[in-house]
Amino acid sequence: MGLGGNALHLVEVTDRKEVLQALNWAHDQGLQVVMIGMGSNIIWGDSGFPGLVIVNKILNYEVYEEDDTNTYLTIGAGEPWDSVVERSVQAGLTGIEALSLIPGTTGATPIQNVGAYGQEIAQTLTTIEAHDALNGSFVTIPVSECGFSYRSSRFKTIDKGRFFITSITLHLRKGNPLPPFYGAVQDYFDQNNIAERTPAALRQAVMAIRTAKLPDPAMVHNVGSFFANPIVSDWEYSQISQQNPGLIPHWAVDTHKVKLSAAWLIEQVGFKDVHDEATGMATWPKQALVLVNEHASSTADLLAFKQKIVEAVKTKFNITLVQEPELIAA
Ligand code: EPU
Repeated sequence: MGLGGNALHLVEVTDRKEVLQALNWAHDQGLQVVMIGMGSNIIWGDSGFPGLVIVNKILNYEVYEEDDTNTYLTIGAGEPWDSVVERSVQAGLTGIEALSLIPGTTGATPIQNVGAYGQEIAQTLTTIEAHDALNGSFVTIPVSECGFSYRSSRFKTIDKGRFFITSITLHLRKGNPLPPFYGAVQDYFDQNNIAERTPAALRQAVMAIRTAKLPDPAMVHNVGSFFANPIVSDWEYSQISQQNPGLIPHWAVDTHKVKLSAAWLIEQVGFKDVHDEATGMATWPKQALVLVNEHASSTADLLAFKQKIVEAVKTKFNITLVQEPELIAA
């Protein structure tokens, strides 16, 4: 976001030994610790972080095991995510190609169970290797113990701050992705007469869709989707649809719950393509869910703009939007 204060201390780590050294040093100094990848989904408080920021630069891309149809990849947590996707696609593997162009590092993907265009990391992840601050050792956590759900995991909820992820192992398959494809992807295939359904074709489609709709964080300050899509009960959904005639974008989560589009809700309360002079913040013209920093001077400005959106949606729909990127504040 290009906002927020400084860290008191910062160190880059390139292997497990350096992770331990950094953690021990912080412990001796009595400092709190946070591990980050590229910081592309983090908002920093204006007074900075009064502890040690560990920047994970652990690299590795290794075929751990494979046979005729399966490939298991072990990837260092500090590997830039999109280059991992690119390499796996070049190797003819399917499983993460719809997660193309997502900013950040590999180790960050399990934290919020990164998902886009019909795939999420929980579907391909098999294990996570991490340092467990609770018992001071390295542990291997199977996918069944990650507590994954929509945009969430135990790593950002009950066990927040406990594990420092050093690598992840993915189970990818040789061959093509299987339909049905995410609506926007299918439309892209149809409109461009793309008949092949290879991992490379899916990656290409996702890259084209994302580039057309989402701002590049290297060019425009943003952290991607600013809110999670709210999940409401059937009853709440029926109330909203009675009061709002017309098509409401929604997806069934289970038999009693419905996921709504946060972007749609924001658009309905007049906050799409809004450029707020008071705070210097804006919503992206092509995706209302993305907040961008045009000329804000502080995280307080960003949070004030966020609050305007939250209150407008709450007033009209009685839904409280929940922030998706992490706020790290002193
Ligand atoms: N829509 C609107 N107005 C908008 C944009 C979208 O009404 O300005 C409606 C449309 O009906 C559209 C639907 O919302 O069909 C869904 O839009 P989109 O496909 O862009 O998905 P999203 O739910 O808004 C989620 C993720 C994105 C991810 C896309 C694609 C969350 C919070 N966001 O957005 O992830 O790229 O799906 O799968 O789940 C991110 O997390 O940073 C991120 C960009």
